[in-house]
Amino acid sequence: MTRFEQQRQFLKSNFHEFKHIKTDKIKGITQPPIVKPFDPKSVLIDLPKVSKDVVSNENIFNCIDQRRSTRFYSADTLCLEELSYLLWATQGITGMNKIGLTLRTVPCSGATHTFETYLMIMRVEGIQQGIYRYLPVEHKLLFMFELDELEQKIDAVTLDQPFVPNFAKKAAVLFAWSTTPYRSEWKYDISAHKKILIDVGHVCQNLYLSSESIGAGACAIGIYDQKLIDEILRLDGDEEFVIYLSAVGKKRE
Ligand SMILES: Cc1cc2nc3c(=O)[nH]c(=O)nc-3n(C[C@H](O)[C@H](O)[C@H](O)COP(=O)(O)O)c2cc1C
Repeated sequence: MTRFEQQRQFLKSNFHEFKHIKTDKIKGITQPPIVKPFDPKSVLIDLPKVSKDVVSNENIFNCIDQRRSTRFYSADTLCLEELSYLLWATQGITGMNKIGLTLRTVPCSGATHTFETYLMIMRVEGIQQGIYRYLPVEHKLLFMFELDELEQKIDAVTLDQPFVPNFAKKAAVLFAWSTTPYRSEWKYDISAHKKILIDVGHVCQNLYLSSESIGAGACAIGIYDQKLIDEILRLDGDEEFVIYLSAVGKKRE
């Protein structure tokens, strides 16, 4: 039992302890950027304006009812309008609060939004295969680089899958959410980490439901090679690292 104890503590609220901590915010240390900065010389791709025209199943009851983790995909591409919609549904900015933090399509503890969305794109109409990052403020894609042997690398990242071997590489897109914990630690100190994990669950659930609404399916992936995915995405693995993945593709008939 003892080896579970520490892990179980992590699941509990530590607000009592947190209340007595002088956080970096209280100390007056500058707030970290609310989104990851990017090189202005980067290649940016405009995403189509988000429209409900892509939605074939507008019925929220049916989307919730029919959602399943989908590990078999058709060979169909996603169109750019659909990708734009999925990115908006998972991290899109829909407002600002009084202190200049982004409000998004997903709830998030203290609006700290510690996530960045990386995409390993296999089949999206008009987009070359490769690695991209979503820029939520601009609602654009940032092209990062092409990756040789993309599908083999996805296999290596997603390790031995317990249900359907090697399914992730057959998706149209693999979403990889990173976290930059300090965006939350600055405000919540030792309480940040549990919140971050809860927050990312909301993001992935919106991917499931928005995918369902366009005839696509998602499958969350918690079994992945941490070091390899961080290396591939060129993340330092400490200040920023991948926390969760999900494959998405059109459903098979
Ligand atoms: C945190 C988390 C991690 C998961 N990791 C994987 C995974 O690595 N591979 C996989 O095939 N499914 C994964 N799943 C999907 C679950 O296996 C699935 O949600 C569960 O079997 C229930 O099926 P349903 O989503 O179709 O209702 C994950 C789900 C969650 C929420």
